[in-house]
This record gives sequence, C-alpha cells and structure tokens, in this order.
Amino acid sequence: MEQQTFSSYVQERYHRASEGPLTDFLSRRNGHLYLGDHVNLNHLAHQYGTPLEVVYYPQITRQIQQMVAWADQARWHTRYRGTFVYAYATKANFTADVVQTALAAGSHYETSAAADVEIARHLWRKGLLPPDRLVCCSGSKEPAYLEAIYRLSQDGCSNVVPIIDDLDEWREWQSSPLPLQLGVRERAVGNRDGRRPGNDRFGLTHEEMTHIVEQVTESDHRLVLYHAMVGSQIENSDYFLDMLRESVVSYCQMRQRVPTLRYFDFGGGMPASGYRMDFSFDYPRFLARLMDIIQQTCDTFQVPVPDLVGEFGRYTVANHHLYLFKVGRVKAGQPDEPDWYLINGSLMVTMPDMVLVPNQQFVVLPLDHWEAPVRRVRLAGRRTCDSDDIYPRSPQEPLLLPNTGEGLVLAVCGTGAYQQMLSGIGGAHHCLSPEPQRIVIKEMDGQPVFHAVPQQDQASIMRLLGYQPERIMVPIHQPGHRKAS
Ligand SMILES: Cc1ncc(COP(=O)(O)O)c(C=O)c1O
Repeated sequence: MEQQTFSSYVQERYHRASEGPLTDFLSRRNGHLYLGDHVNLNHLAHQYGTPLEVVYYPQITRQIQQMVAWADQARWHTRYRGTFVYAYATKANFTADVVQTALAAGSHYETSAAADVEIARHLWRKGLLPPDRLVCCSGSKEPAYLEAIYRLSQDGCSNVVPIIDDLDEWREWQSSPLPLQLGVRERAVGNRDGRRPGNDRFGLTHEEMTHIVEQVTESDHRLVLYHAMVGSQIENSDYFLDMLRESVVSYCQMRQRVPTLRYFDFGGGMPASGYRMDFSFDYPRFLARLMDIIQQTCDTFQVPVPDLVGEFGRYTVANHHLYLFKVGRVKAGQPDEPDWYLINGSLMVTMPDMVLVPNQQFVVLPLDHWEAPVRRVRLAGRRTCDSDDIYPRSPQEPLLLPNTGEGLVLAVCGTGAYQQMLSGIGGAHHCLSPEPQRIVIKEMDGQPVFHAVPQQDQASIMRLLGYQPERIMVPIHQPGHRKAS
C-alpha cells in the first residue's frame, strides 16, 4: 500500500491542497509556507536560522479591518440601527507595537489592570489614543486601578468607561467628584449553564445592578454600558448566542429605566482561527444573528437599539505571531507509541497554554518535505528537562509530520495571544531557556520592513537571577598566581 505523505494527509484530513490557502493567515506557494500571504517562512528560516520568533504586525491590521467590514456587512443585512465598536482587549498582548497597530487600525481600547490604564494614559498624552475611542476598564479594581482610571479621566480622556465589577467599586465612583460614564458587568452570563465555573466571579448580580440603577440617576455619573461576557474562544455560535439572549433582555429592561444606556458590550470570546487547521466560524453570520436578536428584543421592549461593542483579544493578535523550531534529535517512542521529535526550544515556555488550558491546540506545519511519508510524533523541548514540555499532550492525538526527522523545521502558529504575557518577555524562563531571535515585520508604504532582535543572552539572564556573570563565565586569570608545577 502506498504510504501517506504529508500533502495527502493535509488533503484528506483538512481538505486543503498543498499549494494555496491553508488557513485564513497561512498559505503555501511553490513549496514555501507564507504567513499572511506575504512573509516567506522558508526564506526566514534559511536567512536567520532557528529557533526564530516571527512577528508580523500587518496581520493585526488585517484582522481588525476584516471584522469591521464583516460588522458593516451584518449591519447592512439586518438594517441594524446601532454602530459597531471594535475594542482591542490589550491583555492578550501588551507590546507597544501591537497596541499602537491596533489603535492605528481604528480600534477602541479595553483594559484589565492599573498598569494597562497607565499605558492608555501614556498613549493618550502622546496623541496616539484618539479622543473618539472608548476606554472600557474591566475587572475587579484595587485602589491603584481606580486611581489610574481617575487620572486618565482627569487628563481629559472623557471616553473612559469604568465597568463596575462590585458594589464597593460603585461606592468609590459615587464619592468621586469627576462625572464619569460608567458600565455594569452582568455576572450571570459568565456561567449561565453551569459549565464555566470561575467565569461567574466577575460582575454584578441582578439585585446589585438594580441597586446601582436606583442610585445612579441621583449622581453626576451616567450609566452608559451593559457588559455581558460569556467566555473565551467560543467556537459554537449557537451556544454563544443562546448565552447572550437573556443578557440582551436584561439590557432592554435596564434601558427602560436608564435613558443614558447606549452600549451593549458582549466582551471577548470571538474565536481566533489560529489554533486548528479545521477551524470554521462564520463571523459575519454570527454578528448578523446577534444584531437580529438585539433588534427584535429592543422592539419588544420598545427601547432604542444599542451600539454594539466587542472586546477582541485572541481574535486580534493570535495569528500575527509564530515560532520556527528545528527538530534536532529523534527518539523512538515506546512500542506502539509515537516517536519523539526533540526541538531546539521549549514548548511550555513559548506556548504555556498547552499546559494551562485543557486540550489547547496550536497549528504545527513543516516548512519542507510535504511529499515525504508521515509518521506519528509528539514534540518535546530540548531546552528544558521537564516531563510536561511535550506537545500534544496525552490524551490528545499525536501529530502526523514528515518522517524526515532531524533538520525538519516546524512552524508553531497562533502564538500571538496571551502566550508571551503568560511566559513574560525578557525574563529568566524555565530551565533558563533563552528567548529565540525575533524577526519583527512592519509595513511601510506597502513594503515589508524587517527588524531582527538577537536571541536573549545568557549574561542578562544570569544578572536577573542575582549572579554576576563576568565572574562566573569568564575564567579568572591572575598573573603571578600560577600553580607551581
Ligand atoms: C473583560 C474581558 N474582555 C475581553 C477579553 C478578551 O477575550 P478574548 O481573548 O476571548 O477575545 C477578556 C479575556 O479574558 C476579558 O476578561
């Protein structure tokens, strides 16, 4: 029987030809793999070597523009009377270039912490956060977070919207002399069906929201936003919409009492395509169905249609970033078990979600040898000696990759959201695995501009750990102190 090649496997399993688009951000032409249809990953691996981190900012712009276009399309189809507000959830990736790229593409801003608001303030002062953008502040707020919001508002950023997470926060704002636009976060939607324990720690109960509604009209503040977030990476649109239906009803009931209310914010959850080759989600249809639900419910309750806000984390940034690793050694697996492809990096350091999130997947593709027969393998990091540093982890199925073994270069994709934030940038990582060389690609006048950042050096890691690398790494030569022979 003819052996299955990687090409035929991709064809059978994912119904993709070996030439042409593979996902909405990866394609293959003339035997080379491309990111965003522009960045030739084979050339990068050849020119810069591996391991290599590839960062492609134009993909972020594309993601945002695409979603805004889909929303326009959905508004047109449904004759939705509200606007659509795309906010970037900066917690997914705080890197300055990422946030500034999102803002330049027209994105609004969602914060999760005090330092996050300080970044917004810095951007505000530099004129990079334009005054027409909402700054939605989510999460439980410690004093530093409250103060940072207050400072941003005092600096003249009038579109900052703290989203009240508990009654203590409401009392803080009540006593603030600065009139604010406020939001309320619904608690019930986080775990309406009991399948998402942990998600219901955010936000307010129905009674707590009623309490705020009763008091807010007596204050100088305006309640403008209703927040209802289901969860993250929700790929089942029926489920997503079912969870939101009741929240839309609650919005309408509140709108009957609070005429200043004008935004319905469904938070995060919009799925990113970067984790599975067989991902499919009909974004424009999801938006159109949500708009229909909102419009019909608003008509029933005879209230105006809200402006629709989404806070896009993963969707914005997951696909602009990937790693290239080389297989440096192959080890046979136990009998009937897949073999090990040992790579020149650490999987758990570069994509920590693979250990944190049950069944988390990432797209892994070889740069070459698509016509070679496949073998079942698991990847393991050579730069840690940690038994968890393997991907995919059992009970997930092993990968099928070309059987060429050592020298095979693999692209591990979809790593742009949360992974660097969880692992940290520039720190001392597990087993002191150094951060790989990074190639940052921006676009200027339509042309890609490449910038290389060297691999993290050992001396800086040692210094972070309190060592004095000069003394450790350079042998001390003391003239006159030779050992007598
Ligand atoms: C309040 C809020 N909004 C938005 C997001 C972003 O979610 P996602 O990455 O699923 O888009 C999160 C993520 O935790 C969140 O907590």
